[in-house]
Amino acid sequence: MQADIERVLFDEPAIHKRLDQMAAQITADYRDLELTVIAVLTGSLMFMSDLLRRIPLRLKLDCLDVVSYRGKAQTSGKVTFKDMGLPDVADRHVLVLDDILDTGHTLAAVCEKLEMAKPRSVRVCVLLSKRKQRARDVNADYVGFEIEDEFVVGYGLDFMERYRNLPYIGVLRKELLEAML
Ligand code: IMP
Ligand code: MG
Repeated sequence: MQADIERVLFDEPAIHKRLDQMAAQITADYRDLELTVIAVLTGSLMFMSDLLRRIPLRLKLDCLDVVSYRGKAQTSGKVTFKDMGLPDVADRHVLVLDDILDTGHTLAAVCEKLEMAKPRSVRVCVLLSKRKQRARDVNADYVGFEIEDEFVVGYGLDFMERYRNLPYIGVLRKELLEAML
């Protein structure tokens, strides 16, 4: 699996150091508020678990299972919710967690859906944000790292459902991506 990685962008210590800072910021911002964290599965699993254990607030956690149909490495723009139930976030302050902000389709769809439940506020927290022109205008309030527009895997992020279990974030070798396109 390691042989498929062109280069490592963020190793475990770098990720954990950044999570310490993000968690401190979120803890301070929400210290007196009723916080509900909504994690977008599956990519945000590792991020969610490592970040939330650093936030000592009495928060609630819910997960949304979202499929954004990707032609291998590109989002099609069609976002489907696997479980159609709406989390009970009425009057709550909601923080949406996702692994990466790319085109913006996924987070735009998630935020629109959550707004229907009349939350008090909705903010977005992503581990990675790609520097690029987005298809949908999504503002991430908390960003772990900004990266170039390259395909990355590891620490929850996949390529065709693989590599999620890498402990670091790396760029996948281009030949592997191209072979699948
Ligand atoms: P968006 O809807 O294009 O913003 O894409 C968001 C989703 O696409 C993320 O939650 C990821 O699951 C996936 N994604 C986008 N870019 C990458 C990448 O570089 N590596 C792995 N997954 C990605
Ligand atoms: Mg995902």
